[in-house]
Amino acid sequence: MTATTDATVASPSAVPQRARLLATPLPGPRSRELEAERRRHVTEGFGVTVPVFIDRAEGSLLVDVDGNRIIDFASGIAVTSVGAANPRVAERAAAQLSRFTHTCFMVTEYSSFVQVCAWLNEHTPGGFEKRTALFSTGAEAVENAIKIARSATRRPNVLVFDEAYHGRTQLTMAMTAKENPYSLNFGPLPGSVFRGPTAPAHLAPADAAGAAAFVDEALAGVEAVLAEAGPETFAAMVIEPIQGEGGFVVHAPGFLAGLREIATRHGIVLVIDEIQAGMGRTGALFASEHDGVAGDITLSAKALGAGLPLSAVTGRAELMNAVHAGGLGGTYAGNPVACEAALAVFELLEDGSLLAGARHIEHAVRERFEPLLTHDAAGPARAGIVSVRGRGAMMALEFGDASGPRPDIAKAAAAAANAAGVLTLTCGTHGNVIRLLPPLVTEPEVLAEGLDVLEAAIRGALS
Ligand SMILES: Cc1ncc(COP(=O)(O)O)c(C=O)c1O
Repeated sequence: MTATTDATVASPSAVPQRARLLATPLPGPRSRELEAERRRHVTEGFGVTVPVFIDRAEGSLLVDVDGNRIIDFASGIAVTSVGAANPRVAERAAAQLSRFTHTCFMVTEYSSFVQVCAWLNEHTPGGFEKRTALFSTGAEAVENAIKIARSATRRPNVLVFDEAYHGRTQLTMAMTAKENPYSLNFGPLPGSVFRGPTAPAHLAPADAAGAAAFVDEALAGVEAVLAEAGPETFAAMVIEPIQGEGGFVVHAPGFLAGLREIATRHGIVLVIDEIQAGMGRTGALFASEHDGVAGDITLSAKALGAGLPLSAVTGRAELMNAVHAGGLGGTYAGNPVACEAALAVFELLEDGSLLAGARHIEHAVRERFEPLLTHDAAGPARAGIVSVRGRGAMMALEFGDASGPRPDIAKAAAAAANAAGVLTLTCGTHGNVIRLLPPLVTEPEVLAEGLDVLEAAIRGALS
Protein backbone atom coordinates (compact mmCIF):
# COMPACT_ATOMS: atom_id res chain seq x y z
CA MET A 1 0.00 0.00 0.00
CA THR A 2 1.35 3.42 -0.90
CA ALA A 3 1.54 5.72 2.10
CA THR A 4 -0.15 9.03 1.81
CA THR A 5 -0.75 11.80 4.27
CA ASP A 6 -3.78 12.99 2.29
CA ALA A 7 -6.99 12.74 4.23
CA THR A 8 -8.21 10.31 1.57
CA VAL A 9 -11.74 9.13 2.22
CA ALA A 10 -12.21 5.40 1.66
CA SER A 11 -15.16 3.06 1.57
CA PRO A 12 -15.28 0.93 4.76
CA SER A 13 -15.95 -2.26 2.80
CA ALA A 14 -12.75 -1.83 0.75
CA VAL A 15 -10.55 -1.78 3.84
CA PRO A 16 -9.53 -4.96 5.67
CA GLN A 17 -10.62 -5.26 9.28
CA ARG A 18 -8.13 -3.70 11.74
CA ALA A 19 -6.48 -1.39 9.14
CA ARG A 20 -6.47 2.40 9.23
CA LEU A 21 -9.50 3.94 7.58
CA LEU A 22 -10.38 7.54 6.94
CA ALA A 23 -14.14 7.55 6.47
CA THR A 24 -14.14 11.38 6.72
CA PRO A 25 -11.47 14.07 6.93
CA LEU A 26 -10.16 14.31 10.51
CA PRO A 27 -11.79 15.59 12.61
CA GLY A 28 -15.06 14.35 11.11
CA PRO A 29 -18.42 16.12 11.38
CA ARG A 30 -19.58 14.39 14.58
CA SER A 31 -16.23 15.06 16.27
CA ARG A 32 -16.50 18.71 15.24
CA GLU A 33 -19.97 18.97 16.82
CA LEU A 34 -18.71 17.39 20.04
CA GLU A 35 -15.66 19.66 20.00
CA ALA A 36 -17.93 22.73 19.84
CA GLU A 37 -19.82 21.35 22.84
CA ARG A 38 -16.55 20.71 24.65
CA ARG A 39 -15.52 24.35 24.12
CA ARG A 40 -18.78 25.43 25.77
CA HIS A 41 -18.40 23.22 28.84
CA VAL A 42 -14.77 22.20 29.47
CA THR A 43 -12.00 24.45 30.79
CA GLU A 44 -9.57 25.77 28.19
CA GLY A 45 -6.82 24.71 30.61
CA PHE A 46 -6.84 21.24 29.04
CA GLY A 47 -5.01 21.03 25.73
CA VAL A 48 -5.75 18.40 23.07
CA THR A 49 -3.48 16.82 20.47
CA VAL A 50 -6.20 15.87 17.96
CA PRO A 51 -9.80 17.04 18.50
CA VAL A 52 -11.27 13.66 17.62
CA PHE A 53 -13.76 11.88 19.88
CA ILE A 54 -13.22 8.15 20.30
CA ASP A 55 -16.07 5.65 20.27
CA ARG A 56 -14.13 2.44 20.90
CA ALA A 57 -10.80 0.69 20.55
CA GLU A 58 -10.17 -2.40 18.43
CA GLY A 59 -6.84 -4.13 19.04
CA SER A 60 -4.25 -1.40 18.63
CA LEU A 61 -6.62 0.89 16.69
CA LEU A 62 -8.91 3.66 17.90
CA VAL A 63 -12.28 4.08 16.19
CA ASP A 64 -13.82 7.55 16.36
CA VAL A 65 -17.44 8.69 16.39
CA ASP A 66 -17.34 9.23 12.60
CA GLY A 67 -16.15 5.68 11.94
CA ASN A 68 -12.50 6.63 11.28
CA ARG A 69 -10.01 3.93 12.29
CA ILE A 70 -6.89 5.55 13.69
CA ILE A 71 -3.50 3.92 14.22
CA ASP A 72 -2.52 4.69 17.79
CA PHE A 73 1.13 5.70 18.28
CA ALA A 74 0.32 7.34 21.63
CA SER A 75 -1.31 4.66 23.84
CA GLY A 76 -2.93 7.46 25.86
CA ILE A 77 0.64 8.56 26.77
CA ALA A 78 2.17 5.11 27.38
CA VAL A 79 -0.81 3.66 29.22
CA THR A 80 -2.66 1.19 26.98
CA SER A 81 0.28 -1.14 26.30
CA VAL A 82 -2.09 -4.12 26.06
CA GLY A 83 -4.50 -2.16 23.84
CA ALA A 84 -7.30 0.10 25.03
CA ALA A 85 -9.92 -2.68 24.85
CA ASN A 86 -8.04 -5.75 25.97
CA PRO A 87 -10.54 -8.59 26.53
CA ARG A 88 -8.74 -9.99 29.59
CA VAL A 89 -8.63 -6.57 31.25
CA ALA A 90 -12.31 -6.04 30.45
CA GLU A 91 -13.21 -9.48 31.79
CA ARG A 92 -11.44 -9.10 35.12
CA ALA A 93 -12.57 -5.48 35.59
CA ALA A 94 -16.18 -6.30 34.68
CA ALA A 95 -16.29 -9.20 37.12
CA GLN A 96 -14.97 -6.93 39.86
CA LEU A 97 -17.49 -4.19 38.95
CA SER A 98 -20.32 -6.60 39.56
CA ARG A 99 -18.85 -7.75 42.92
CA PHE A 100 -18.04 -4.30 44.41
CA THR A 101 -16.55 -1.06 43.10
CA HIS A 102 -14.93 0.27 46.24
CA THR A 103 -14.49 -0.20 49.94
CA CYS A 104 -11.45 2.04 50.55
CA PHE A 105 -8.51 -0.18 51.45
CA MET A 106 -8.04 1.86 54.66
CA VAL A 107 -11.54 0.85 55.80
CA THR A 108 -11.91 -2.80 54.74
CA GLU A 109 -9.51 -4.82 52.63
CA TYR A 110 -9.56 -6.99 49.47
CA SER A 111 -6.98 -9.46 48.28
CA SER A 112 -6.37 -8.07 44.76
CA PHE A 113 -4.61 -5.07 46.40
CA VAL A 114 -2.26 -7.47 48.20
CA GLN A 115 -1.68 -9.54 45.03
CA VAL A 116 -0.68 -6.44 43.05
CA CYS A 117 1.77 -5.46 45.80
CA ALA A 118 3.21 -9.00 45.91
CA TRP A 119 3.78 -9.04 42.12
CA LEU A 120 5.53 -5.66 42.20
CA ASN A 121 7.68 -6.69 45.18
CA GLU A 122 8.79 -9.75 43.24
CA HIS A 123 9.32 -8.16 39.81
CA THR A 124 10.73 -4.68 40.41
CA PRO A 125 14.54 -4.50 40.28
CA GLY A 126 16.42 -5.22 43.53
CA GLY A 127 16.85 -8.53 45.33
CA PHE A 128 16.02 -7.08 48.77
CA GLU A 129 12.85 -7.41 50.82
CA LYS A 130 10.22 -4.94 49.64
CA ARG A 131 6.84 -3.49 50.47
CA THR A 132 4.46 -1.65 48.14
CA ALA A 133 1.89 1.11 48.54
CA LEU A 134 -0.78 1.64 45.89
CA PHE A 135 -2.26 4.96 44.82
CA SER A 136 -4.13 6.25 41.76
CA THR A 137 -2.00 8.59 39.64
CA GLY A 138 1.66 8.82 38.75
CA ALA A 139 2.10 12.20 40.44
CA GLU A 140 0.58 10.75 43.60
CA ALA A 141 3.17 7.96 43.54
CA VAL A 142 5.98 10.53 43.17
CA GLU A 143 4.59 12.64 46.03
CA ASN A 144 4.33 9.59 48.26
CA ALA A 145 7.85 8.44 47.44
CA ILE A 146 9.08 11.82 48.71
CA LYS A 147 6.95 11.52 51.84
CA ILE A 148 8.41 8.07 52.50
CA ALA A 149 12.01 9.14 51.81
CA ARG A 150 11.67 12.17 54.07
CA SER A 151 10.05 10.14 56.82
CA ALA A 152 12.75 7.45 56.64
CA THR A 153 15.73 9.83 56.46
CA ARG A 154 14.33 12.87 58.34
CA ARG A 155 15.99 15.01 55.66
CA PRO A 156 14.20 17.74 53.65
CA ASN A 157 15.78 18.07 50.21
CA VAL A 158 15.06 16.40 46.89
CA LEU A 159 17.36 16.18 43.87
CA VAL A 160 15.82 16.00 40.40
CA PHE A 161 17.35 16.39 36.96
CA ASP A 162 17.43 18.48 33.80
CA GLU A 163 14.59 17.54 31.39
CA ALA A 164 12.71 15.72 34.18
CA TYR A 165 8.95 15.25 34.17
CA HIS A 166 7.24 13.98 37.32
CA GLY A 167 3.68 15.38 37.15
CA ARG A 168 1.37 18.34 37.62
CA THR A 169 0.69 18.53 41.37
CA GLN A 170 2.38 21.27 43.41
CA LEU A 171 5.47 19.26 44.39
CA THR A 172 5.78 17.39 41.09
CA MET A 173 5.48 20.68 39.15
CA ALA A 174 8.49 21.89 41.12
CA MET A 175 10.30 18.65 40.26
CA THR A 176 9.45 18.95 36.53
CA ALA A 177 12.02 20.85 34.46
CA LYS A 178 9.91 22.48 31.76
CA GLU A 179 8.05 25.59 32.95
CA ASN A 180 5.67 26.17 30.03
CA PRO A 181 3.03 24.74 30.18
CA TYR A 182 3.51 22.73 33.36
CA SER A 183 4.17 25.33 36.06
CA LEU A 184 3.67 28.62 34.23
CA ASN A 185 1.75 31.06 36.50
CA PHE A 186 1.12 28.33 39.09
CA GLY A 187 3.73 29.40 41.65
CA PRO A 188 4.93 29.77 44.27
CA LEU A 189 6.20 26.21 44.01
CA PRO A 190 7.35 24.16 47.02
CA GLY A 191 11.03 24.62 47.87
CA SER A 192 13.70 22.07 48.79
CA VAL A 193 13.95 20.88 45.17
CA PHE A 194 17.39 21.00 43.52
CA ARG A 195 18.18 20.15 39.89
CA GLY A 196 21.25 18.31 38.64
CA PRO A 197 22.69 17.60 35.18
CA THR A 198 22.29 14.39 33.18
CA ALA A 199 24.46 12.63 30.58
CA PRO A 200 22.21 12.02 27.55
CA ALA A 201 23.50 9.08 25.49
CA HIS A 202 22.77 10.86 22.20
CA LEU A 203 25.05 13.74 23.17
CA ALA A 204 27.94 11.56 24.41
CA PRO A 205 31.18 11.46 22.40
CA ALA A 206 31.47 8.32 20.24
CA ASP A 207 34.84 7.19 21.64
CA ALA A 208 34.89 5.21 24.88
CA ALA A 209 37.25 7.55 26.74
CA GLY A 210 35.26 10.63 25.69
CA ALA A 211 31.98 8.97 26.69
CA ALA A 212 33.37 8.00 30.11
CA ALA A 213 34.61 11.58 30.69
CA PHE A 214 31.17 12.90 29.64
CA VAL A 215 29.46 10.73 32.28
CA ASP A 216 32.05 11.61 34.93
CA GLU A 217 31.50 15.31 34.26
CA ALA A 218 27.72 14.95 34.73
CA LEU A 219 28.21 12.96 37.95
CA ALA A 220 30.64 15.61 39.23
CA GLY A 221 27.88 18.15 38.44
CA VAL A 222 25.46 16.10 40.55
CA GLU A 223 27.91 16.07 43.45
CA ALA A 224 28.31 19.84 43.09
CA VAL A 225 24.53 20.38 43.37
CA LEU A 226 24.38 18.12 46.43
CA ALA A 227 27.25 20.09 47.95
CA GLU A 228 25.25 23.36 47.65
CA ALA A 229 23.00 22.33 50.55
CA GLY A 230 25.13 19.45 51.85
CA PRO A 231 24.51 15.87 50.72
CA GLU A 232 23.39 14.98 54.25
CA THR A 233 20.31 17.21 53.74
CA PHE A 234 18.98 15.18 50.78
CA ALA A 235 16.23 12.65 51.39
CA ALA A 236 15.86 11.49 47.79
CA MET A 237 17.13 11.75 44.26
CA VAL A 238 14.48 11.01 41.65
CA ILE A 239 15.32 10.00 38.10
CA GLU A 240 13.44 8.60 35.10
CA PRO A 241 15.40 5.66 33.63
CA ILE A 242 14.49 7.05 30.22
CA GLN A 243 13.26 10.62 30.41
CA GLY A 244 9.81 10.78 28.83
CA GLU A 245 8.26 14.22 28.39
CA GLY A 246 11.80 15.66 28.32
CA GLY A 247 12.43 14.04 24.94
CA PHE A 248 12.92 10.28 25.41
CA VAL A 249 16.41 10.83 26.71
CA VAL A 250 18.34 7.59 27.28
CA HIS A 251 21.14 8.04 29.79
CA ALA A 252 24.70 7.29 28.69
CA PRO A 253 25.97 3.95 30.02
CA GLY A 254 27.28 4.36 33.56
CA PHE A 255 25.22 7.43 34.47
CA LEU A 256 22.45 5.61 36.38
CA ALA A 257 25.04 3.34 38.01
CA GLY A 258 26.95 6.48 39.02
CA LEU A 259 23.82 7.96 40.61
CA ARG A 260 23.29 4.66 42.44
CA GLU A 261 26.81 4.92 43.88
CA ILE A 262 26.40 8.58 44.89
CA ALA A 263 23.03 7.89 46.55
CA THR A 264 24.41 4.94 48.50
CA ARG A 265 27.50 6.84 49.61
CA HIS A 266 25.44 9.75 50.98
CA GLY A 267 22.52 7.73 52.38
CA ILE A 268 20.12 9.29 49.86
CA VAL A 269 17.09 7.28 48.72
CA LEU A 270 17.34 6.59 44.98
CA VAL A 271 13.84 6.79 43.49
CA ILE A 272 13.52 5.45 39.95
CA ASP A 273 10.45 6.87 38.26
CA GLU A 274 9.35 4.05 35.92
CA ILE A 275 5.89 5.56 35.50
CA GLN A 276 6.27 5.96 31.72
CA ALA A 277 9.13 3.55 30.91
CA GLY A 278 8.14 0.62 33.14
CA MET A 279 5.76 -2.33 32.78
CA GLY A 280 7.40 -3.70 29.65
CA ARG A 281 7.39 -0.60 27.46
CA THR A 282 11.13 -0.68 26.75
CA GLY A 283 11.34 -4.42 26.08
CA ALA A 284 12.30 -5.20 29.70
CA LEU A 285 9.79 -5.27 32.56
CA PHE A 286 11.49 -2.20 34.04
CA ALA A 287 13.71 0.17 32.07
CA SER A 288 16.33 0.38 34.84
CA GLU A 289 17.09 -3.30 34.13
CA HIS A 290 18.87 -2.17 30.93
CA ASP A 291 21.37 -0.35 33.17
CA GLY A 292 21.54 -3.08 35.82
CA VAL A 293 20.49 -0.56 38.46
CA ALA A 294 17.89 -0.98 41.21
CA GLY A 295 16.34 2.00 42.93
CA ASP A 296 15.67 1.91 46.66
CA ILE A 297 12.18 2.86 45.50
CA THR A 298 10.64 2.12 42.09
CA LEU A 299 7.53 3.94 40.88
CA SER A 300 4.93 2.40 38.57
CA ALA A 301 1.71 3.76 37.06
CA LYS A 302 0.30 4.25 33.55
CA ALA A 303 0.48 0.75 31.92
CA LEU A 304 0.16 -0.89 35.35
CA GLY A 305 -3.63 -0.43 35.31
CA ALA A 306 -4.12 -0.60 31.52
CA GLY A 307 -6.05 2.68 31.65
CA LEU A 308 -7.68 2.27 35.04
CA PRO A 309 -6.05 4.69 37.47
CA LEU A 310 -3.45 2.81 39.51
CA SER A 311 0.03 3.71 40.70
CA ALA A 312 2.53 2.11 43.02
CA VAL A 313 5.51 2.91 45.23
CA THR A 314 7.63 -0.21 45.73
CA GLY A 315 10.71 -0.04 47.92
CA ARG A 316 12.98 -1.48 50.54
CA ALA A 317 10.86 -2.81 53.39
CA GLU A 318 12.69 -0.74 55.99
CA LEU A 319 12.02 2.50 54.07
CA MET A 320 8.40 1.71 53.27
CA ASN A 321 7.73 0.70 56.88
CA ALA A 322 9.42 3.78 58.36
CA VAL A 323 6.20 5.76 57.91
CA HIS A 324 3.82 5.91 60.88
CA ALA A 325 0.57 3.95 60.57
CA GLY A 326 -2.06 6.07 58.84
CA GLY A 327 0.57 8.29 57.20
CA LEU A 328 -0.08 6.91 53.73
CA GLY A 329 -3.32 6.28 51.89
CA GLY A 330 -6.09 7.96 49.94
CA THR A 331 -9.78 7.26 49.40
CA TYR A 332 -9.29 5.63 45.99
CA ALA A 333 -5.75 4.31 46.53
CA GLY A 334 -5.50 0.87 44.92
CA ASN A 335 -9.11 0.79 43.71
CA PRO A 336 -10.30 -2.83 43.35
CA VAL A 337 -11.35 -2.52 39.70
CA ALA A 338 -7.95 -1.03 38.85
CA CYS A 339 -6.23 -3.81 40.82
CA GLU A 340 -8.07 -6.44 38.75
CA ALA A 341 -6.92 -4.65 35.58
CA ALA A 342 -3.33 -4.81 36.87
CA LEU A 343 -3.66 -8.53 37.60
CA ALA A 344 -4.81 -8.98 33.99
CA VAL A 345 -1.75 -7.01 32.79
CA PHE A 346 0.51 -9.30 34.87
CA GLU A 347 -1.10 -12.37 33.25
CA LEU A 348 -0.57 -10.85 29.79
CA LEU A 349 3.09 -10.15 30.56
CA GLU A 350 3.73 -13.76 31.55
CA ASP A 351 4.54 -15.36 28.18
CA GLY A 352 6.98 -12.63 27.11
CA SER A 353 5.07 -11.69 23.96
CA LEU A 354 4.47 -8.11 25.11
CA LEU A 355 8.20 -7.61 25.69
CA ALA A 356 8.89 -9.15 22.27
CA GLY A 357 6.30 -6.76 20.80
CA ALA A 358 8.18 -3.80 22.31
CA ARG A 359 11.48 -5.02 20.87
CA HIS A 360 9.90 -5.52 17.44
CA ILE A 361 8.65 -1.92 17.51
CA GLU A 362 12.16 -0.62 18.28
CA HIS A 363 13.62 -2.68 15.46
CA ALA A 364 11.01 -1.48 12.94
CA VAL A 365 11.39 2.18 13.95
CA ARG A 366 15.20 2.06 13.76
CA GLU A 367 15.16 0.22 10.43
CA ARG A 368 12.79 2.81 9.01
CA PHE A 369 14.23 6.07 10.29
CA GLU A 370 17.96 5.56 10.95
CA PRO A 371 18.68 5.68 7.21
CA LEU A 372 17.12 9.17 7.20
CA LEU A 373 19.50 10.56 9.85
CA THR A 374 21.10 13.77 8.65
CA HIS A 375 23.75 13.77 11.34
CA ASP A 376 27.40 13.28 10.40
CA ALA A 377 30.66 13.96 12.25
CA ALA A 378 30.35 17.69 11.55
CA GLY A 379 26.75 17.84 12.88
CA PRO A 380 23.48 18.09 10.98
CA ALA A 381 24.26 19.34 7.48
CA ARG A 382 20.63 19.91 6.51
CA ALA A 383 17.27 19.95 8.24
CA GLY A 384 15.98 16.53 9.19
CA ILE A 385 16.11 13.79 11.79
CA VAL A 386 19.18 14.36 13.95
CA SER A 387 18.52 11.56 16.45
CA VAL A 388 16.59 8.29 16.51
CA ARG A 389 16.61 7.11 20.10
CA GLY A 390 14.79 5.26 22.82
CA ARG A 391 14.21 1.67 23.75
CA GLY A 392 11.49 -0.77 22.81
CA ALA A 393 8.15 0.87 22.16
CA MET A 394 9.39 4.20 23.52
CA MET A 395 11.13 5.70 20.50
CA ALA A 396 11.80 9.30 19.52
CA LEU A 397 12.74 11.15 16.37
CA GLU A 398 14.45 14.48 17.00
CA PHE A 399 14.47 17.21 14.35
CA GLY A 400 17.08 19.89 13.85
CA ASP A 401 19.54 21.51 11.52
CA ALA A 402 22.85 23.37 11.81
CA SER A 403 21.07 26.21 13.65
CA GLY A 404 19.66 23.90 16.37
CA PRO A 405 16.29 22.35 17.25
CA ARG A 406 13.50 22.50 14.62
CA PRO A 407 10.15 22.22 16.45
CA ASP A 408 8.43 23.50 13.28
CA ILE A 409 9.34 20.30 11.39
CA ALA A 410 8.31 18.02 14.27
CA LYS A 411 4.98 19.83 14.62
CA ALA A 412 4.26 19.88 10.87
CA ALA A 413 5.10 16.18 10.46
CA ALA A 414 3.08 15.17 13.54
CA ALA A 415 0.12 17.26 12.37
CA ALA A 416 0.24 15.66 8.90
CA ALA A 417 0.42 12.16 10.42
CA ASN A 418 -2.46 12.97 12.75
CA ALA A 419 -4.58 14.26 9.87
CA ALA A 420 -3.83 11.04 7.99
CA GLY A 421 -5.02 8.87 10.87
CA VAL A 422 -1.80 8.05 12.71
CA LEU A 423 -1.96 9.45 16.21
CA THR A 424 1.46 10.88 17.02
CA LEU A 425 2.70 13.06 19.91
CA THR A 426 5.55 15.54 20.19
CA CYS A 427 7.71 16.17 23.27
CA GLY A 428 11.07 17.54 24.35
CA THR A 429 12.12 20.77 26.01
CA HIS A 430 12.20 22.44 22.58
CA GLY A 431 9.15 20.58 21.22
CA ASN A 432 11.30 19.23 18.38
CA VAL A 433 10.80 15.52 19.09
CA ILE A 434 8.15 13.15 17.73
CA ARG A 435 7.61 10.30 20.16
CA LEU A 436 6.25 6.93 19.28
CA LEU A 437 4.43 4.99 21.99
CA PRO A 438 2.41 2.32 20.18
CA PRO A 439 0.59 -0.33 22.20
CA LEU A 440 2.92 -3.33 22.62
CA VAL A 441 0.23 -5.45 20.95
CA THR A 442 0.38 -3.46 17.68
CA GLU A 443 0.23 -5.94 14.80
CA PRO A 444 3.35 -5.79 12.54
CA GLU A 445 1.26 -4.82 9.48
CA VAL A 446 -0.50 -2.02 11.37
CA LEU A 447 2.87 -0.79 12.67
CA ALA A 448 4.32 -0.85 9.15
CA GLU A 449 1.36 1.10 7.79
CA GLY A 450 1.66 3.67 10.58
CA LEU A 451 5.38 4.08 9.88
CA ASP A 452 4.65 4.45 6.13
CA VAL A 453 2.30 7.32 6.92
CA LEU A 454 4.70 8.93 9.37
CA GLU A 455 7.60 8.69 6.94
CA ALA A 456 5.51 10.32 4.21
CA ALA A 457 4.50 13.05 6.70
CA ILE A 458 8.14 13.71 7.61
CA ARG A 459 9.22 13.79 3.98
CA GLY A 460 6.37 16.22 3.29
CA ALA A 461 7.38 18.47 6.21
CA LEU A 462 10.98 18.54 4.94
CA SER A 463 10.15 19.31 1.32
C1 LIG B 1 7.94 9.79 34.29
C2 LIG B 1 6.61 10.28 34.74
N1 LIG B 1 6.41 10.52 36.05
C3 LIG B 1 5.23 10.95 36.51
C4 LIG B 1 4.17 11.20 35.65
C5 LIG B 1 2.86 11.70 36.20
O1 LIG B 1 1.87 10.74 36.07
P1 LIG B 1 0.32 11.16 36.13
O2 LIG B 1 0.04 11.96 34.91
O3 LIG B 1 -0.41 9.85 36.18
O4 LIG B 1 0.14 11.94 37.39
C6 LIG B 1 4.34 10.97 34.30
C7 LIG B 1 3.25 11.24 33.34
O5 LIG B 1 3.44 11.41 32.15
C8 LIG B 1 5.59 10.51 33.82
O6 LIG B 1 5.81 10.28 32.51
